[in-house]
Amino acid sequence: MHSVQLSDHRGEFIPQIAAERASARRIVGDSGSLRQALQLVEIVAPTDASVLITGETGTGKELIARAIHDQSGRRARPFVKINCAAIPSGLLESELFGHERGAFTGAVAQRMGRFESAHGGTLFLDEIGEIPLELQAKLLRVLQDQEFERLGGTRTIMVDVRVIAATNRDLASMVDDQRYRDDLYYRLAVFPIALPPLRERPEDIDALVRHFVDRFALRMRRQIEVIPTETLDALRRHPWPGNIRELENLIQRAVILSPGPRLNVPTALLATPRARRVWEEPDTMKSVERAHILRVLEETNGIMGGAHGAAARLGMKRTTLQSLLKRIGLAVPRSIDRRGARSPSLVDANGGGAHAAA
Ligand SMILES: Nc1ncnc2c1ncn2[C@@H]1O[C@H](COP(=O)(O)OP(=O)(O)O)[C@@H](O)[C@H]1O
Ligand SMILES: [Mg+2]
Repeated sequence: MHSVQLSDHRGEFIPQIAAERASARRIVGDSGSLRQALQLVEIVAPTDASVLITGETGTGKELIARAIHDQSGRRARPFVKINCAAIPSGLLESELFGHERGAFTGAVAQRMGRFESAHGGTLFLDEIGEIPLELQAKLLRVLQDQEFERLGGTRTIMVDVRVIAATNRDLASMVDDQRYRDDLYYRLAVFPIALPPLRERPEDIDALVRHFVDRFALRMRRQIEVIPTETLDALRRHPWPGNIRELENLIQRAVILSPGPRLNVPTALLATPRARRVWEEPDTMKSVERAHILRVLEETNGIMGGAHGAAARLGMKRTTLQSLLKRIGLAVPRSIDRRGARSPSLVDANGGGAHAAA
């Protein structure tokens, strides 16, 4: 797959690194929906068609992109990836297309962009929904004509690059809102592959858990032979807002916490989905405020008034809290039951969408 020698710092070949790398590339699961996606991978891989992989965060979009590259005729050539959300939009153009010396303040040398680095191979454009409108036209051009100019350059550069894009956004509705160019969208979405969230394929959980237990046990030199049935049951019931990445991280922590042959998943690691979801939201003042209010409401079992109610704890009047709740789009807390469990309406208000019961 790669021509780089797998070696440690002394230059010795280490089979374990090779085993780990192979394990990290394995796509595990036997659900109908995953198998369907893998069939599409097999069909599209040998073509040069661009592919748009959609799915929530952590559903395996990058893994699938790599699989497409590895099953294509380009496998011996580079797989280059760029996360459009991780690069400030002002720098994205130069990252993608490169720049000439003096193209802008600080451009002290000529620099190759990712399209050039990916020549002959595959460019994986992650979080393609985040690409600003003004760059979308330039991206469309290189997709259609395989040519572009570096920033500040006049020479047209030709490349041979296969593009795989991924997003967790609904690009079609962004097109409707005119936040995304329709021509770019149609060009990217020539061959779409949708990855289902983990909560819609609980039948994959057992195999994934075993896969991650084996991987981390090998790495940490543990011998874990038993995964208790109750643990697997609890894992199958968890809604996994962070999908397979969340499961992978949880199993890693569980393996660290399991000195013996039995996998120990502390129930605290399966904390409420609310805690996790809030954790994943960007830290805007609004989301912090919202999370804080939710937490206080849960602590008071939804009781707003009175000396020990949420309003008193938050230092405001009950009526103020009520209108605040309305403003930030939270359901009125009679929907929190007395045991502190949150009702579906509050989950929906917080998660921004109904969850299909898995
Ligand atoms: N079907 C799968 N089998 C094994 N590991 C998986 C699978 N899907 C995802 N993973 C792992 O879960 C993590 C998140 O996957 P990734 O491809 O980065 O998701 P995304 O790009 O959709 O956020 C990665 O470590 C990946 O290797
Ligand atoms: Mg990703």
